[in-house]
Amino acid sequence: MGITTINKHLISIKDLEKIEIESILDRASFFASSLERGVCGYNIDQLNPVICNLFFEPSTRTRFSFEVAAKKLGYHVLNFDSSKSSTQKGETFYDTIKTLEAMGVNAAIIRCTEENLIQEIADRVELSLINAGSGTKEHPSQALLDLLTIREHFGKIEGLKIAIIGDIKHSRVASSNISALNKMGAELLLSGPESLQLDTKESNCNQVDIDTAIKEADVVMMLRVQKERLGSYPDMDTFKINSDDYHKEYGLTLDRANLMQKHAMIMHPAPFNRGIEIDGELVEGPRSLIYKQVSNGVATRMAILERALKQL
Ligand code: CP
Repeated sequence: MGITTINKHLISIKDLEKIEIESILDRASFFASSLERGVCGYNIDQLNPVICNLFFEPSTRTRFSFEVAAKKLGYHVLNFDSSKSSTQKGETFYDTIKTLEAMGVNAAIIRCTEENLIQEIADRVELSLINAGSGTKEHPSQALLDLLTIREHFGKIEGLKIAIIGDIKHSRVASSNISALNKMGAELLLSGPESLQLDTKESNCNQVDIDTAIKEADVVMMLRVQKERLGSYPDMDTFKINSDDYHKEYGLTLDRANLMQKHAMIMHPAPFNRGIEIDGELVEGPRSLIYKQVSNGVATRMAILERALKQL
């Protein structure tokens, strides 16, 4: 029994057919119910796969949920620390990945600032590459766990109205979710500060004012302002607003939450800023799916790792 890892990258939601998304969600549901029953439901192979987390940007949820997911599957986990690695001596990203591959690492989980770094080397390596968030455009594992959370709660995705509100322009979560939700037949309503929105031609979604988005949506997905990315966008120098004003103008305040339909639910990929894009009381309130998203992150990443490391 061996492990095959060829051509099982997960780099962009755009690469997945709807049927493949559904198959990942089905496996993620299986893992979610196994975890709820306190079992893994997985046979550990004699030759346990090895995965390596390579995070060149900060992360709490994605990094640790990939690690928890891998451990629940019985995989070995290496955690790469770029500040103590040979990248400090000039080793390239490609040479780092080839070195790990030569050691028998089966999958690399990568978070990086560059938009296309992972895609550029994908055809030159045999281990599976899993995008854990790159640049402003791709965060496929987050979009998949969001789909699972919506499907679990509503029993479907098709036909639902999903409002995504906040800094959409710099959010890889928004970009991957727009792609995934469009594919699954949801209707999207985008809203937030004008200068932090996508061109409607680029997003192919309805742009509406915040109160309309909140009133009409089945799911209100709030996003934080990606302050760490504003500096690389000269046009963003003009986006200066204090936290209180942001909360009043663009945040999910308690008053705005009262505009939501009775059945509508709140989501946020986190990390969230209580009192800025969302009132702190709503985070743990009865309409919040935010911590469900975090637990579904483990089940979804189990399904993603399983897909990447199919055992023969
Ligand atoms: N949602 C998300 O990607 O969180 P982390 O940055 O903590 O991984």
